[in-house]
Amino acid sequence: MELKKQVGYEAAKLVKDGDIVGLGTGSTTLHFIERLGERVKEEELDIMGVPTSYQSFFLARDLGIKITTLEENDVDLAVDGADEVDPDLNLIKGGGAAHTLEKIVDSSAARFVVVVDDSKLVDKLGKMPIPLEVMPAAYRVVSNRLRDMGGVPSIRMAERKDGPVITDNNNFLLEVAFKEIPDPKFLEKELNSIPGVIENGIFSGYVDEVLVGTQEGVKVLK
Ligand code: 5RP
Repeated sequence: MELKKQVGYEAAKLVKDGDIVGLGTGSTTLHFIERLGERVKEEELDIMGVPTSYQSFFLARDLGIKITTLEENDVDLAVDGADEVDPDLNLIKGGGAAHTLEKIVDSSAARFVVVVDDSKLVDKLGKMPIPLEVMPAAYRVVSNRLRDMGGVPSIRMAERKDGPVITDNNNFLLEVAFKEIPDPKFLEKELNSIPGVIENGIFSGYVDEVLVGTQEGVKVLK
């Protein structure tokens, strides 16, 4: 079985009847949500999902998973993907431009489980640039501040290259590369202290466990 599917299906086993489930975004959580939808039908599970994006909202809704919000319920278990995972279980997320709501939902969950294939494991964060959701009016001044911090920012363009990516919250997405990230927690706070930055894609200190899809089966990192 494809590794992303293997690990998504494994995570779907963690959901218990009555749970409020944070529904992550991306091609790995897609398998989690699909399998969860099957379990809801087969086992008549009484669960509700809190989506982290329009992608997960529409997917879950179409599969018959009841939807709720953080206004109404606390999340028991959140399952989400990641772009990079370091040995301390710090993450870079935002490959799908959904990291703002992902961080709100995932960090609020009683248990936050990450699902990745083994290509996402890194010794140190920073192989990919860090995504930052930025208010459109602020993107030039935020870019200047990022350069002052030693970063190399660029705006993420839509696939057709005819304009910038627009997030679910109607903002732009900057990506900033740093030569190294010695202290992810510090950088996460620093980036969020720039006026105009809504949220950055470093997730430090929120993860309870990581399920890793490998050719030898699913491994658990804690
Ligand atoms: C979206 C994310 C995704 O979870 C991350 O990009 C991983 O995606 P995939 O499972 O498709 O590799 O952070 O903002």
